[in-house]
Amino acid sequence: MDKDKMRAMADRVFRDVAGGMATALAFVGTETGLFRAMAGRGPMSIADVAAASGLEARYVEEWLKGMVSAGYLDYEAAAETFTLPDEHAFLLSSEGTDHFMGGMFAMVPPLLGVAPRVAESFRRGGGVPFADFAPECRHAIDLMNRGNYEHRLVDYWLKQLPEVTARLAAGGRALDVGCGRGYVPLALKKAFPAAECVGVDPDRASIAEARAAAQAAGLTPRFEDVTSDALADTAPFDLISLCDVLHDLPSPLDVLRGLRARLAPEGVLLVIEPRVSDRLEENINPMATMFYGFSTFHCLTQSLAHGGAGLGACLGPTRTQALFSAAGYGSATLLDIKSPTNLFYAVRA
Ligand SMILES: C[S@@+](CC[C@H](N)C(=O)[O-])C[C@H]1O[C@@H](n2cnc3c(N)ncnc32)[C@H](O)[C@@H]1O
Repeated sequence: MDKDKMRAMADRVFRDVAGGMATALAFVGTETGLFRAMAGRGPMSIADVAAASGLEARYVEEWLKGMVSAGYLDYEAAAETFTLPDEHAFLLSSEGTDHFMGGMFAMVPPLLGVAPRVAESFRRGGGVPFADFAPECRHAIDLMNRGNYEHRLVDYWLKQLPEVTARLAAGGRALDVGCGRGYVPLALKKAFPAAECVGVDPDRASIAEARAAAQAAGLTPRFEDVTSDALADTAPFDLISLCDVLHDLPSPLDVLRGLRARLAPEGVLLVIEPRVSDRLEENINPMATMFYGFSTFHCLTQSLAHGGAGLGACLGPTRTQALFSAAGYGSATLLDIKSPTNLFYAVRA
């Protein structure tokens, strides 16, 4: 046995379990406002952080030390002070922006919450349906994606499809399939008030939250708690979007075929999927590891729960493009959009 290889693996295991614990500590940091309480404040003592956050000093102390150990905070030993560097605050205490990374921490507790059931599904098949995930899972998806939809969808991503935005500005129609809490239809309606914007999702709780968000924002997209094939509105759409949804679907081909029939003649299907390579050997990196985890404990299991295709989140561009062809689409272009996490396809009938 190669002892160096074994020691390296032991280090790997410690690093990974430490990563899990760092995630849990960082989750507390975003949920309780600890990062926000430290942002822009420079060096702080334990008592300063406890006072600024209004939290229990003993817990705060343990959290501060753990976050120093994990590299999230700087520590000045002589003064015994803790600092959240501005560069870290930019990513960790910036909820609602397109650079906030804390939503990823929030994804881990609900996914680990179903891990025993998923492990059981490894033995018996089936899986955990979307509705069985804790509400915290919807909240986490929201935290991860909302900033992008509010700040990038219209101002950056859709700039690649000027003919579509022109039609929406002139009163065209947009459909977001698997809209979750509805931030895509909301962003579209805000940017294109004359457009008719519809969001569908079979998850009733998500649609109830989407309607509440629309009311709070004073916007009027339409939300329906149905799958796209059950949507009674049969008029064609200029834009149909599937944002982080295609790989979750139990019947992705049927849905793609059905959506093709709903596209206006010059309409575009915009599909946003995780950025992973086709080749496993090119996916040996933290981003892909995260996606394989999200996939196993969320995307894959909810599809298999319905006896579905079980595509998983790490489909890769070649298999994704093959789905579009199999569903009868004439063309599918990978858009030139810079994103560390996503690939963007413009698909035409
Ligand atoms: C990962 S979430 C993405 C939500 C939202 N699009 C976003 O990006 O934040 C996947 C969504 O697909 C929805 N979904 C699952 N099966 C569906 C189906 N057959 N038709 C439409 N939506 C579906 C789920 O209810 C869930 O809201």
